[in-house]
Amino acid sequence: MLKFGALLALTSLIPAFVEAVAPVWGQCGGNGWSGETACASGSTCVKSNDWYSQCITSSTQASSTVQSSTAAQPSTTSTPAAGNPYDGYEIYLSPYYADEVIAAAAAITDPTLKAKALKVKDIPTFTWFDVVAKTSQLGTYLADADAKAKTTGKKYLVQIVVYDLPDRDCAALASNGEFTIANNGLNNYKGYVDKLAAEIKKFPNVRVIAVIEPDSLANMVTNMGVTKCQGAASAYKEGTIYAVKKLSELGVYSYLDAGHAGWLGWLPNLTPAAELFAQIYKDAGSPPFLRGLATDVANYNAYTTTSPDPVTQGSPNYDELKYITSLAPELQSRGFPAHFIVDQGRSGVQNIRKEWGDWCNVKNAGFGTRPTLNTGSSLVDSIVWIKPGGECDGTSNTSAVRYDGHCGKESAHKPAPEAGTWFQAYFENLVKYANPAL
Ligand SMILES: *[C@@H]1O[C@H](CO)[C@@H](O)[C@H](O)[C@H]1NC(C)=O
Repeated sequence: MLKFGALLALTSLIPAFVEAVAPVWGQCGGNGWSGETACASGSTCVKSNDWYSQCITSSTQASSTVQSSTAAQPSTTSTPAAGNPYDGYEIYLSPYYADEVIAAAAAITDPTLKAKALKVKDIPTFTWFDVVAKTSQLGTYLADADAKAKTTGKKYLVQIVVYDLPDRDCAALASNGEFTIANNGLNNYKGYVDKLAAEIKKFPNVRVIAVIEPDSLANMVTNMGVTKCQGAASAYKEGTIYAVKKLSELGVYSYLDAGHAGWLGWLPNLTPAAELFAQIYKDAGSPPFLRGLATDVANYNAYTTTSPDPVTQGSPNYDELKYITSLAPELQSRGFPAHFIVDQGRSGVQNIRKEWGDWCNVKNAGFGTRPTLNTGSSLVDSIVWIKPGGECDGTSNTSAVRYDGHCGKESAHKPAPEAGTWFQAYFENLVKYANPAL
């Protein structure tokens, strides 16, 4: 709700005879939306979910007509490059996130904070494909990355999150998705993966790195007591296998989501987690481009620390590197490729949670370590930013359909808008408390 303050202020300067429209990147629909539903010139209204539609510019959508400009040599081979897939590549910066950051910075009056905020647009984050409607944007990004590669002579990679399983977010409410298992969700999901694959296929010279389905398999390890998770288990597994196989065929390096130290890192969870990942890998036919696991996605844990956050008490795996180091041998002994990437986008500040399980818009979080290949561990390919900082984890409106109690907790920043939408006050704190400083 705070997202477009600056843009709204600008539109108020537009002479009254101009028909009122929602600004570029502004909300243009969703349950309960009473604002403008037409979009500013150059943008169209794209449904994000039942609660949110957004004006997206033509340059970032409708890429189905974009063609790879030359008959490029297919880089897709059945054999992955040896070593770290990040090595030797420039990471493509999402123009969508950059626009969000620019709009957010424009709404900040303090010049020092504004300047720091603007730096965030040059730090690579993953782009989340959380609805089918967004899949065509991937083609636009890949075309753009392909063009940049040609002009700079550098090799580019694009980072994506595959996130649209049916009955998504089975143990929580805040990020429920567009597909339900009861209503053809698994087939719809395969169609969604096919759409991403079709875009990727057009740009064989651009490397794609994918994080597969945050929280889903971790829920299969620890939340099978939740009816919705139990009911989703076979669809989650079949959907995940379908995605990793299909993406591997196109040379996409993928990392399955593996929760975080405070979830699968508890000692009793390590072996069952490794068993599940190894089983998925085997059932998918050991896809050669399945590179490993992604941890701490959208979470707040330290990568490595000598002073454990009090909420981690009782676990020897009190940071991500300890978790990874404990899990890796369990994976290796089962034949699973134990390579990792670790999200540190919001991990700059520790000791801000009341409980380790607090995940929703944790108050006073700061941007963390910048993406780097300098990880200090041969198990870890890269420190990355997967969650785009400033995009909300879930609404704090207790009457909203997707209200999750975690987003109303004492440690959660309130008031918070719907999941995935811009949360200006939260972003400003991430900038303010960034560690290292911006
Ligand atoms: C909270 O959600 C309800 C139900 O969708 C809606 O009617 C109400 O306006 C929302 N309140 C705020 C402050 O957004």
